[in-house]
Amino acid sequence: MRHLLSTKQLSREEAIRILDVAEDMSDTQQRTVKKLPTLRGKTVVNLFFEDSTRTRISFEAAAKRLSADVINFAAKGSSVSKGESLKDTAQTLAAIGADGVVIRHPASGAPAVLAGSGWIDAGVVNAGDGTHEHPTQALLDAFTMRRRLHGAASRGRDLDGVRVVIVGDIVHSRVARSNLWLLCTLGAEVTFVAPPTLLPSAVGAWPATVRYDLDEALAERPDVVMMLRIQSERMHEAFFPNPREYSRQWGLSAERWATLPGSALVMHPGPMIRGLEISDEAADSPQSTILEQVANGVAVRMAVLFLSMTGSEAANPTETEIA
Ligand code: CP
Repeated sequence: MRHLLSTKQLSREEAIRILDVAEDMSDTQQRTVKKLPTLRGKTVVNLFFEDSTRTRISFEAAAKRLSADVINFAAKGSSVSKGESLKDTAQTLAAIGADGVVIRHPASGAPAVLAGSGWIDAGVVNAGDGTHEHPTQALLDAFTMRRRLHGAASRGRDLDGVRVVIVGDIVHSRVARSNLWLLCTLGAEVTFVAPPTLLPSAVGAWPATVRYDLDEALAERPDVVMMLRIQSERMHEAFFPNPREYSRQWGLSAERWATLPGSALVMHPGPMIRGLEISDEAADSPQSTILEQVANGVAVRMAVLFLSMTGSEAANPTETEIA
């Protein structure tokens, strides 16, 4: 795997290979010395044209734990704000010898343009592009589900028959799209729940069941409930009457959370807006995997950087640790 641009590109075998390598990476993170020499001498550039907390710091932690040199580039404060193009930015990164580029960009397709451009000879990893995809988020979500549902027997397993309800701002969500493609590839069944205004017009052609009523969806006792952030920065008109109405109809309130089976996972990719999308009771409950998702993100991104920058045929990435 040279580039990771979308989960749609992944076969079942490729997805399971990434999740299994992430399990190996996660094991190394329990050691006293967490650092591996795997990417020593390589340079990873984190190229962020949009804000991020979790994705940026976990890619940085992942690259550093693999001993890569890391350069963090934020568009704010760079020559991009003076009008420099993606091409010139990429050629600047090539000139300083980047071996891997992690890119977040507001334009859907920007990582694919970079990967196919010939401007830079580096593995490109999509860290979120517009409303298109956020593949490492979906991989860390699948990793978290697999671990919680299959425990120590996770390796080699898919998510066959797991019922996942994804709730909220589907139309603007690259997380929803990446999760849909990956979960279907792994055998899970996906239901989207949202007001009609927050569903894309193409949703009828997607492999998901669509519902408008959250209580009806929860009454079917799903295995996983994934709440999404309302992406107000992408909303230039009113998509629902007001926040109170949204929360009443589509929020995971304390009362709704209490109706879920104790085994149901409560997920959110973050950043979450408490009181709007999710209540404190649900977010801080034992069923909540929200902080586990963040922790698992480091192991998953270590796996993705390793496979992208060394080739998936490489030997065991975790054999050696740096003393
Ligand atoms: N889940 C996610 O992408 O979070 P950040 O925007 O903080 O990176």
